[in-house]
Amino acid sequence: MSPGATNGEAEVGSDGPRQKGKATPDTLKIGCIALVTKDGQPRRAEILSIKETKSGRQFYCNFDNFNKRLDEWVPVSRIDFEQDVEWPNPEKDKQKDAKGKKTTVSKKSQPSKKTQKRVGKREQSVASEGQTPHPFTDSAESQSKPDGEDKANASLEVGATPGVGPDEMELDEDETPASAAKKENAPTFSREQEIEKLRTSGSMTQNPAEISRIRNISKVEFGRYVLFPWYFSPYPEAFSQEDCIYICEFCLSYFGNLKSFTRHRTKCTLQHPPGNEIYRDDFVSFYEIDGRRQRTWCRNLCLLSKMFLDHKTLYYDVDPFLFYVMTTRDEKGSHIIGYFSKEKESADGYNVACILTLPQYQRKGYGRLLIQFSYELSKIEGKLGSPEKPLSDLGLLSYRQYWSENIIDLLLGYAESGEKCTIETIATRLAMTTQDVEHTLQALKMQVYHKGEHKIVIPEKLLQQREKSRAKQKRVIDPERIQWKPPVFTAASRTWGW
Ligand code: ACO
Ligand code: ZN
Repeated sequence: MSPGATNGEAEVGSDGPRQKGKATPDTLKIGCIALVTKDGQPRRAEILSIKETKSGRQFYCNFDNFNKRLDEWVPVSRIDFEQDVEWPNPEKDKQKDAKGKKTTVSKKSQPSKKTQKRVGKREQSVASEGQTPHPFTDSAESQSKPDGEDKANASLEVGATPGVGPDEMELDEDETPASAAKKENAPTFSREQEIEKLRTSGSMTQNPAEISRIRNISKVEFGRYVLFPWYFSPYPEAFSQEDCIYICEFCLSYFGNLKSFTRHRTKCTLQHPPGNEIYRDDFVSFYEIDGRRQRTWCRNLCLLSKMFLDHKTLYYDVDPFLFYVMTTRDEKGSHIIGYFSKEKESADGYNVACILTLPQYQRKGYGRLLIQFSYELSKIEGKLGSPEKPLSDLGLLSYRQYWSENIIDLLLGYAESGEKCTIETIATRLAMTTQDVEHTLQALKMQVYHKGEHKIVIPEKLLQQREKSRAKQKRVIDPERIQWKPPVFTAASRTWGW
């Protein structure tokens, strides 16, 4: 399935029967469903927003059965006013409004459920980075740099990435006299308060659901690439008025204008992600970054990735996560290709929370490398892992591909040696959950019941497909090169609830 294809997204206007009638460009309003041309075809689309532009009125449309990343602003000429439109349901809207208001109030007075869940978990678990080896000393040395820089930049640049709190980056495990003194003078902010502050005020205001349905950033300059975002991301509201925003590809600070970005670039010395380099081959590197130690950087990464990830809501509370960032190197530095985040302790056994290949690198096999890396870490941990649900359409396609290729390769090995292979064996060997193994076998019709026995078979067509994809596949992660021990959680961190 191509990302442009329909993909089982929810039908627009599935909130019950609606009144129909003729509309004009002046009466067509938000919530209406109209017939709008897309790729030369008339399609049902819900109007999510309306704006006046120099070239006339434009309507922001979400198309029936299309992923939100294909939403777009359309001019009047693409809307068929000959046909009836479906008017929004007033009853439903009132209910929606009431709900919206309630949510806003409760959001301000208490953290969201998700936050509470994370906080609860975090209290029991803070990773000790001291336990992770530093195989490549250059990166370990420069670990603490970027956050200091971020802070300095935030106070100097207009319209730049904000600093978020006075104690934001004072995260050293061993308290030095200097840091203790600083703490005494600093106003006391709990982490929850800080997250609430970000959520409800200041630059990272969480927009109401209605606004967040609309893509707010139209263009991003990122290193030598120009990116066209797919989804809403909670950058400062003023940024949505800019034709283009600028993100520093190394520290991920964001700027609303070229001048302040250019000034930033003359000062920014970061050349790779701010963590330990835990993998390096001729092609890529992986860095492990602790959300708690590198809050600003990780929050900026979440903001950046939200532009291409629709269904994850985590931007601020990065503390309970580790981030595994894949880069490619050249003389200028280590450029981010993609990453996955992982809860330090996942009650559900997830080995990936969010996974992203930046759009300029997609469909080149990097997603496979990210997924393989996440399973290699699970193998080292001696755990079975699975990605956090729900998966996006592209996430599902990529995981299915990874799972089926690896299961087929493993089975071929067993077939050669004549050994028997069970679902449990596959799960253990690939660090996949038995559920994921079973679902894959079912989806590929690889399970048969023969003479009273369940058997796993590889249909000829799958073998041919695998041959083809193997010929295409250039790179894999070499597990021998991973320099990593699972982070250990210290008793002190549990006691003090840091
Ligand atoms: N159309 C069809 N098949 C696709 C597509 C696509 N657009 N993208 C990936 N696939 C499938 C293909 O089978 C592909 O293998 P092939 O190219 O040999 O046919 C396979 O997935 C792997 O492709 P990669 O090139 O290795 O994957 P990529 O680098 O593009 O990354 C990813 C995949 C991470 C899902 C990327 O599409 C992405 O970042 N999407 C946006 C964010 C997202 O949706 N993330 C997953 C959310 S779920 C979660 O976070 C747990
Ligand atoms: Zn920078």
